[in-house]
Amino acid sequence: MADFQLPQQTGFYRGKVRDVYTIQNDLLVMIASDRISAFDVILPRPVPFKGQVLNQLAAYMLNATKDICPNWLMDVPAPQVSIGKRCIPIRIEMVVRGNLSGHAWRTYASGQRELCGVTMPNGLKENDFFPTPIITPSTKAEQGHDEDIAAEEILSRGIVSEREWNRLTTYSFDLFKRGKELASKRGLILVDTKYEFGKIENDIYLMDEIHTPDSSRFFYAEGFQERQNRNEKQPQLSKEFVREWLIANNFMGKKGQSVPEMSDEWIQTISGRYIELYEKLIGERFRPVPMDNKEIEERILNSLQHFLSPGKSK
Ligand SMILES: Nc1ncnc2c1ncn2[C@@H]1O[C@H](COP(=O)(O)OP(=O)(O)OP(=O)(O)O)[C@@H](O)[C@H]1O
Ligand SMILES: [Mg+2]
Repeated sequence: MADFQLPQQTGFYRGKVRDVYTIQNDLLVMIASDRISAFDVILPRPVPFKGQVLNQLAAYMLNATKDICPNWLMDVPAPQVSIGKRCIPIRIEMVVRGNLSGHAWRTYASGQRELCGVTMPNGLKENDFFPTPIITPSTKAEQGHDEDIAAEEILSRGIVSEREWNRLTTYSFDLFKRGKELASKRGLILVDTKYEFGKIENDIYLMDEIHTPDSSRFFYAEGFQERQNRNEKQPQLSKEFVREWLIANNFMGKKGQSVPEMSDEWIQTISGRYIELYEKLIGERFRPVPMDNKEIEERILNSLQHFLSPGKSK
């Protein structure tokens, strides 16, 4: 992906997955690349169409939840590009879990029953539903790995006020409920997810991507309970299967470990899984829209025209 020079550009940041341009300090242009990251490391090979899948899914989900909570998105000028409001990030990730999976399961399996100050009931198996969804926040570290944090500490450290915390939890539970409904209509279970919020003046906005394979886990609803009863694995539709493959090949992002070789075939498999989730969740065929840099730039410039305020430079 080219580095663009956009009008009134005041900043550029290359995230692990997205290229983020700041325009006039209050707008962001985010280009979702085909880069894939796991354990906070960018894997060596791009995954075809991943950027388009993520960007379009996120846009779909942001639009389908905007009655619950204001969000940053204003326009999707190209399949892999979103333009929207720049927020001041609240430095926690709101992780919502409907099932005992992933990090929560690993904690539980080690014998602990408390995660981020939340008590998990006894007698659960991996991937079982919690009686009701729980929120297990993590710090959004400027550098390094994110860490679990309890609500109490979020408040005592003054990361947000109590009022804001209540707002964040209400938004997160309501968004998760909607996400589960949307998934369930398509025969999927939204297992867990994370939301990021930010502020514009005193208002809280939902930002970043939501309900995508990079930010969420999904299971197939059909046969879920039977598989649980038989102690079988649940097929994974999210990035989790890439993490599992990395772990099986001795890579967890730790010092001294190296990323295993990724064959053409494996890259195609990953790409296919992203597309599969898109089609399942939206219920429409995925149409790849290959676009060269020039066309992407033109679309961005065109869209920005509508949002740039004249006479307001830098
Ligand atoms: N509306 C917004 N305002 C400000 N920041 C945002 C907004 N939406 C998303 N972001 C931030 O932009 C970045 C998007 O980049 P990307 O998805 O590549 O990052 P990441 O891999 O999740 O995290 P990192 O920033 O650690 O690389 C994230 O840091 C996200 O928190
Ligand atoms: Mg991200």
